[in-house]
Amino acid sequence: MTTHRPTPRRALLAVAATAATMALCGAARAGEVEVLHYWTSGSEAKAAAALKSMLQAKGHTWRDFAVAGGGGDSAMTVLKSRVVSGNAPAAGQIKGPSLQEWAAEGVLASIDDVAKAEKWDSLLPKQIADVMKYKGSYVAAPLNVHRVNWLYANPEVLKKAGAKLPANWDEFFTTAEALKKAGVIPLAHGGQNWQDFTIFESVALGLGGVDFYRKALVQLDAATLNGPTMEKVLTTFRRIKGYTDKNAPGRDWNLATGMVVKGEAGMQLMGDWAKGEFMAAGKQPGKDFVCTAAPGSAGAFTFNVDSLAMFKVKGDDKVKAQKDLAAAVMSPQFQEAFNINKGSIPVRMNMDLSKFDDCAKASAKDFAASAQAGTLVPSIAHGMAVPASVEGAIKDVVSQFWNNDRMTPKEAMSRLAAAAKSS
Ligand code: BGC
Repeated sequence: MTTHRPTPRRALLAVAATAATMALCGAARAGEVEVLHYWTSGSEAKAAAALKSMLQAKGHTWRDFAVAGGGGDSAMTVLKSRVVSGNAPAAGQIKGPSLQEWAAEGVLASIDDVAKAEKWDSLLPKQIADVMKYKGSYVAAPLNVHRVNWLYANPEVLKKAGAKLPANWDEFFTTAEALKKAGVIPLAHGGQNWQDFTIFESVALGLGGVDFYRKALVQLDAATLNGPTMEKVLTTFRRIKGYTDKNAPGRDWNLATGMVVKGEAGMQLMGDWAKGEFMAAGKQPGKDFVCTAAPGSAGAFTFNVDSLAMFKVKGDDKVKAQKDLAAAVMSPQFQEAFNINKGSIPVRMNMDLSKFDDCAKASAKDFAASAQAGTLVPSIAHGMAVPASVEGAIKDVVSQFWNNDRMTPKEAMSRLAAAAKSS
């Protein structure tokens, strides 16, 4: 077998020729794709890097516009001002009913041609596909399914305290008390309104059940918001605060996860992006940390689907880059790489999950079982159910109640009912 070894001069010429071809192709096809998102923690950035490298492999330029702030409130403010000033990115991390609100403003682009060519309708659960469409046309590409009603714990810390993993709220307080006596912070928390609400909705689901959750927080039924179950939920929610530390206000969610990783705290109530942080820290599920459904909510699944909304962009190269981005998001390679790092499960159906960890496999199983049993519910804290204005208003009430011990549950209930009307 002969191998042709180019002489240095020939090699140089070859490199020059390739560069010239690439430049030509670039002029014709490669474009820039700017993505505005809020994936800034270690695991989130690692997950997003999968998209960047796929786009770069197609010759496009990736422009990262990351806005720090878990839950995305700051990112949404920045995105709004950019769109209003006529400087929209190619894609933005927007999800749930907000997609309809943005599309109604006329700023989103249809990616139906990509969706048709790639057969998205047959690859996505219909409920999720419908959220990605405006007036029947796809305007966003979904990345994953996050489960919000999780509890993470450090098993070594639990063991030292003689405490067990709680299955319901009574057990939660027994465990929390044992951890407190052992001198560790029972619950790692970050006092930001989306994190407060993440706990609140898990209490509502675990104590009230699926029907109560839907009536109170999705349908915003005034009688349910003012009823005895809500009073019990608020009372329990407030009791949890006594098991968080005094430095909780303002803390970022990933720093709270870090406290459980290091054994400074015993538990965290958080969606499975927290699992991404445990994994990025090299921790093994079932050994160094454990995941279980938030107390009392084992039969239910609170979903949170991340998606990238596509904005109208000018120039064939930019449009091409945007369409390639949409196709990449739904590809099996991306769905695997992104979700393994992100802590979530693929939104694309029938994916091979063999490379995923046990918590992700449990999540996929519970997602399917909940869909079957009718116990799949949207996360309010993560923009899946109600208009942004209502979400903001009820989040504020819940955080005011959490922060102000003088506010009674009854007062919070009437404020919640008022906030529910703010659409
Ligand atoms: C998003 C996740 C993100 C988390 C923390 C959630 O609302 O869906 O993608 O990791 O907030 O910022």
